[in-house]
Amino acid sequence: MTDAPIGVFDSGVGGLSVLREIRQRLPSESLLYVADSGYVPYGEKTPEQIRARSRSIARFLIAQGAKALVVACNTATAAAVAELRELHDLPIIGMEPAVKPAAQATRSGVVGVLATTGTLQSARFAALLDRFAGSIQVVTQPCPGLVEYIEQGELDSARVRELLHGFTRPLLAAGCDTLILGCTHYPFVRATLQSMLPAEVILIDTGAAVARQLQQRLEAKGMTAAGPSRPCRFWSSGDPATLQRTLPVLWGEPGVVELLPD
Ligand code: DGL
Repeated sequence: MTDAPIGVFDSGVGGLSVLREIRQRLPSESLLYVADSGYVPYGEKTPEQIRARSRSIARFLIAQGAKALVVACNTATAAAVAELRELHDLPIIGMEPAVKPAAQATRSGVVGVLATTGTLQSARFAALLDRFAGSIQVVTQPCPGLVEYIEQGELDSARVRELLHGFTRPLLAAGCDTLILGCTHYPFVRATLQSMLPAEVILIDTGAAVARQLQQRLEAKGMTAAGPSRPCRFWSSGDPATLQRTLPVLWGEPGVVELLPD
């Protein structure tokens, strides 16, 4: 039993979609969240740049007393989770596009993956397809530009819809009936996306599965908190005021955001 907090990070606000699932599943746990918004988007950075940011944020969260880390970012998981696990001896949960559940859910046999360029180009994603795609056809779609709007809390504007339309059109034309939201920012435009798609198209993300996995890891190690939890602490490497403004919508309640120290 340990009341130490869990450290969660992403390139920006996307990981808040995972943080919400963690809070719901593990309400007794205290949470720390770093939005690396000064360096967003990770999707267009090199793996070495992402590893450098991930090393630095992991060190910061561990210095704040984190007992476990959640890399709430598919792109950072692909580039950095293996190295973080070599460097630090604590549970580190990563995340990857939900290819396995999508392959089980599809009826047309064609699955689309919306994700960042970095995730789709990674060796980890190629290995994921080798492992779980089987006879399913997987069509990938990078979504440049979308993360930047979501960072500003813009989730349902005409230009967001136009982008989403452009990204999903080729997937629908290819016969996809199941779309994987392979970036933690995208669940925030889920309702917009769903309203634009034929009703039978299923959207799948991994936030809830990550929270479940975190719970299992903590329980297996006897590391769960008894509670009550302390309020979540937030840091941003970008403008803290921007995150503070979007928190009520993206996190569901207001919070104080500090500047992430260099
Ligand atoms: N939210 C991130 C992910 O899950 C990355 C978005 C970005 O910074 O490009 O991949």
